[in-house]
Amino acid sequence: MVEKLVDRGASVVVLDDLQRGHRASISASVPFYQGRVGDQQLVQSICDEHEIQSCIHFAALAYVGESVTHPELYFANNIAQGLALLDTLVAAGVRRFVFSSTCATYGEPTKIPIDEQHLQRPTNPYGWSKLIMEKILQAYDDAFGLKSVSLRYFNAAGATTRVGEHHEPETHLIPNVLSVALGKKPYVSVFGNQYSTPDGTAIRDYIHIADLCHAHLLALEYLQNGGASESLNLGTGRGHSVNEVITTARRVTGREIKVRVEPPRPGDPSRLVADARKARATLGWNPQYTELEAIIQSAWEWRRAHPEGYEE
Ligand SMILES: NC(=O)c1ccc[n+]([C@@H]2O[C@H](COP(=O)([O-])OP(=O)(O)OC[C@H]3O[C@@H](n4cnc5c(N)ncnc54)[C@H](O)[C@@H]3O)[C@@H](O)[C@H]2O)c1
Repeated sequence: MVEKLVDRGASVVVLDDLQRGHRASISASVPFYQGRVGDQQLVQSICDEHEIQSCIHFAALAYVGESVTHPELYFANNIAQGLALLDTLVAAGVRRFVFSSTCATYGEPTKIPIDEQHLQRPTNPYGWSKLIMEKILQAYDDAFGLKSVSLRYFNAAGATTRVGEHHEPETHLIPNVLSVALGKKPYVSVFGNQYSTPDGTAIRDYIHIADLCHAHLLALEYLQNGGASESLNLGTGRGHSVNEVITTARRVTGREIKVRVEPPRPGDPSRLVADARKARATLGWNPQYTELEAIIQSAWEWRRAHPEGYEE
């Protein structure tokens, strides 16, 4: 996102406490503050110093499993800190906000593809923390005129030449598959192969980070042009099974990728595929990476150039 904004000539300031992030992922020339979004003094001083007009709020804890065992961390970090951030921004006169929401706010889908009207009933505290933030944003629009776009991402994937995916621990499928291709892990775990899908493995909608970030740019422009608050799905509208991802990764990397079938994870739906027509219509968004192969290729190129991820 920072890369894209800088390319556009926007002035950007980054705030991250680096509890899960990497300083090296942000260009050294971009003003960077290490701190929490809930630190009101710090956020206030950043707003004053940089005359902040808009905020794109990515900061969150984002592991579903961890949110089940440690809900307190998710409610404190994602909701309490998010709320403190909003209060500071509103007091500083900021009225445009783009929020990283998630398809996890829908919970178990009752129909596929999932559109924005689908019932939101999360199945874990992570999903709840994001849904509650969406509700807070609606109330802050009513009360304070804070205009926001909540972008409900499906599965973010892929890399640019500069930035790629590096989480500790890594729970995302594509980086894990590529770790096996690189010989960093012996096998990739496939959680469940008896789903009611054509090959029995779970189906997800993989959206390239360049397309995802482009939608954020368009969402900012939409708000700058006076757009009303919205919630929009971001996905390609195409689902790919875990087996398809692995087969495609074998083709892209030319490496054998060993798999181990494990029991399905509780609360993992069989299919999550976006109906993203509303984002296309509202923002004029048109994702460029429509082929899984190109998404995996981009991630593979980054991983080969950074086999240890961000080295810090
Ligand atoms: N990756 C996906 O597939 C996906 C899907 C749906 C939604 N999302 C959402 O997108 C956002 C980014 O996800 P990601 O995969 O890049 O996660 P990430 O963990 O790589 O990035 C989150 C960043 O936020 C920082 N952070 C967390 N809490 C903070 C706080 N209180 N103050 C300051 N910094 C804080 C972390 O240090 C990290 O750098 C998250 O909000 C996540 O919930 C991601």
